[in-house]
Amino acid sequence: MSMQVSSYDLIHEDRQKGIFRVNRQALTSDDVLALERERIFKRCWLYLGHASEVRKPGDFVTRKVMRRPIIFNRDKHGELRAFYNTCPHRGAQVCRERAGSAKSFQCAYHGWTFDNDGGLRGVPGRESYPKDFNANGMYDLPEVQRMESYCDFVFVNFDAGAESLEDYLGGAKDYLQLIALQSKVGMEVISGTQEYHARANWKLLLENSADGYHALTTHATYFDYLKERDGKAAVENNKGKSVFNKPFGQVIDLGNGHTVSESDGAIPWGRPIARFRPGMGEAAREAIEEVRRQLVDRLGEERARIVAEKDFNMLVFPNLAVLNIMAVTVRTFYPLAPDKMDVRAWALGPQDEAATLRDLRMRNFVEFLGPAGFATPDDVEMLELCQEGYQCQPGADWNDLSRGMLTEHEHAAKQDEMQMRNFWRRWRQMLASDDRVSFKIAS
Ligand code: FES
Ligand code: FE
Repeated sequence: MSMQVSSYDLIHEDRQKGIFRVNRQALTSDDVLALERERIFKRCWLYLGHASEVRKPGDFVTRKVMRRPIIFNRDKHGELRAFYNTCPHRGAQVCRERAGSAKSFQCAYHGWTFDNDGGLRGVPGRESYPKDFNANGMYDLPEVQRMESYCDFVFVNFDAGAESLEDYLGGAKDYLQLIALQSKVGMEVISGTQEYHARANWKLLLENSADGYHALTTHATYFDYLKERDGKAAVENNKGKSVFNKPFGQVIDLGNGHTVSESDGAIPWGRPIARFRPGMGEAAREAIEEVRRQLVDRLGEERARIVAEKDFNMLVFPNLAVLNIMAVTVRTFYPLAPDKMDVRAWALGPQDEAATLRDLRMRNFVEFLGPAGFATPDDVEMLELCQEGYQCQPGADWNDLSRGMLTEHEHAAKQDEMQMRNFWRRWRQMLASDDRVSFKIAS
């Protein structure tokens, strides 16, 4: 049996009573996923990559953005480009490498050749086509409708009429700047991509990426390890207080469904530019002090403090998480099915980083958030446990996200759930946009 509902029926929000619940059909229904593809992924700005991945003219990487294979490259004029990786002849993927440098791309099927600026250069049997074949460029490599970047974060949009990336990002821009300011010569993706699947709905990782209070239970092993390795200081904030004693940090609505959960120097297992921690090893002490001195010279005391010490997990709607904790992790994830997602994550670091600090950064990146680290396998296990629980529909039908709901306008704490509610409100609005077309769910 099925019934027609809209996204508004899938979210139960009662501001007076302080209740916010999401119907689990939002995490299991094929119809919901089909609508998300149409109304969210075809309209929003989606993260493609970082400019440092294609540093020199000719450099390219290939990757999928919402199932669409894309060539992200820097053309011979030094411009960033995003092409659909499909031959205008009969559709084969023109570039089959994951990364490299190329002046041109030759399709493996019939041998059409394209310049790295997308222009069609060679067609076997050219004499059998009209003289003005491709005079209007209709057989050049097709370009993605929109590509724009901000602070070297490059995004695409499949909607030619979409608002500009900067308007879309809104308050998220300030936080991307805080990443970019970490180096005077620019940040870079440190080679290597973390890739994994999880048997869970993609939105569960969105929620988890800024879930401010699961760590104590889900990641208990990690804190035990830290305490054993570095002593009590390992879990103390910059005021010498245990971070477990009192809630800390805040959540800020950045507009358009983006949210940041942040704290100033309160997280003790910080990034290798913030401050020295015992577990980092003595060699790092001097290097960290030097980084801080340079930041102060370049940005002044106060701005330098913010860049060095503000830890944050930012969610950029719909599926980008920028995690400025321990290292800088850029993570994106796409649905393969309602109960399966594909995750990609990269580490960013200053291009001019000292070797000791780069080692530390990579250790943090792999040790905590890596697919075989202390955190990610635990998180994935939790998400899969949740997804499995959603089999109990109908009967057990709602997820709760009410924590801090009654006070979210005056104060939203990191340990509350405003970051998730903010996402879901935007989700609800986008899915219902225009005509509130309804879709079927099982009942
Ligand atoms: Fe590419 Fe034919 S499909 S040359
Ligand atoms: Fe976690």
